[in-house]
Amino acid sequence: MKVLVIGGGGREHALCWSFARSPLCSKLFCAPGNPGIEALATCLPIKIEETDKIIAACAAHEIDFVMIGPEAPLSWGLADALQEAGLICFGPSKAAAQLESSKGFMKDLCKDYNIPTASYARFWDAQKAKDYVKTQKTPIVIKADGLAAGKGVTIAQTQEEAFKAIDEAMVEGAFGSAGKAIVVEEFLVGEEASFFALADGEGAMFFTSAQDHKAVYDGDKGPNTGGMGAYAPAPNIDDAMRARVMKDIIFPTIEGMKAKGMPFSGMLYAGLMITKDGPKLIEYNVRFGDPETQVMIPLLKSDLLTALYATAKGLLSTIELHWHDQSALCVVMAAKGYPELYEKGSVIRGLDGVNGDKDGVVFHAGTSRNDKGEVIAVGGRVLGVTGWGKDIFAAKEKAYALAAKIDWPEGFCRSDIGWRAIERLNASASLSSSGSREAAEPGI
Ligand code: AMP
Ligand code: GLY
Repeated sequence: MKVLVIGGGGREHALCWSFARSPLCSKLFCAPGNPGIEALATCLPIKIEETDKIIAACAAHEIDFVMIGPEAPLSWGLADALQEAGLICFGPSKAAAQLESSKGFMKDLCKDYNIPTASYARFWDAQKAKDYVKTQKTPIVIKADGLAAGKGVTIAQTQEEAFKAIDEAMVEGAFGSAGKAIVVEEFLVGEEASFFALADGEGAMFFTSAQDHKAVYDGDKGPNTGGMGAYAPAPNIDDAMRARVMKDIIFPTIEGMKAKGMPFSGMLYAGLMITKDGPKLIEYNVRFGDPETQVMIPLLKSDLLTALYATAKGLLSTIELHWHDQSALCVVMAAKGYPELYEKGSVIRGLDGVNGDKDGVVFHAGTSRNDKGEVIAVGGRVLGVTGWGKDIFAAKEKAYALAAKIDWPEGFCRSDIGWRAIERLNASASLSSSGSREAAEPGI
């Protein structure tokens, strides 16, 4: 099968890394790709917004299957356009992608199908939103309705902060058209988890779970980012929780989307808060997570391409997924200044030979090449350094050992990725009689 991956970030590098080893894949292309992906696929100089060129490239290279990585082209209708051109692709239609591209759409679906989520109201007028805030408790959450690269959410501790966030989105236009409408919602207390399910329009199947670190600095301090690191699986999603989330959240969503005439096909990624009253949906994404993909894929024993192709063909019930009984952890290396202003163009050294190991890999995200052919940083999140092993300690040790090989003074990473899982394991170990976990902690 000839396969084309759309996108050029760490998620797409991880997808290519898997597809390149699939027995189904005879030739792999990626548009636009990045310097890391170049080692695995033929990179085509086509931007994700160039739908016509993507379709023309599919014809020219006789592509059998297109895998769409990012949310933006899904929200523009790339999957619809590819299907109209007779291609098989993984990713939902524009209508179904509204689960991510409009928070109001997602919240209204929850209301209609009794899916547990934070109570909310949706506004198109700043004054009405402020009047509503005055009737609610704080903290309170203000969200731009549309896509804002993970930055459209404010947890307001006071009414004044809420008013400021409303003005930023609706009056000052901080998120462009994404902030013309907002959702104001109840602040949920609990531990978050990312929950992934494959869906083929008719049914859904649990994929795996992960936890990410959205805040930019250690200790979960500083502004939110697209994700500074992740690990899988999520320790707070055990078998019972997974069954509950499928029953209360995922299956009702699949049924609701079918009933609306917008069957959902692709990866359904639920951002959950596990509250004392059970799991509640914070948000939906309609694609693989980034950096979560970088930790999920190394743990998958089954062939990913086979699973995604079957899903896209509506044959989800024919596949089985098997996983390694291990943990994986990814540390994101970002340009200093991210998520605010950062410099572009600094050279990254130490990447040669870094991908020869069996238990770790460096995925490229915001990289490019300069005139001399050197790898340079051109984005905020630049590299995703993943390690895996028998548990989260081994995975963390490996990821940070790999990160230490990278010579990039203009970059930084958090030093505490995985802290929540490690704290949980340490707590359960100190409860058990041996207490051996604390001794096993490598101290990184
Ligand atoms: P979202 O983009 O909707 O996932 O929101 C980004 C982050 O804001 C989430 O991962 C949570 O950490 C936080 N968040 C969003 N909504 C809520 C909520 N209702 N209660 C508490 N935290 C929230
Ligand atoms: N890591 C968050 C996301 O992919 O949206």
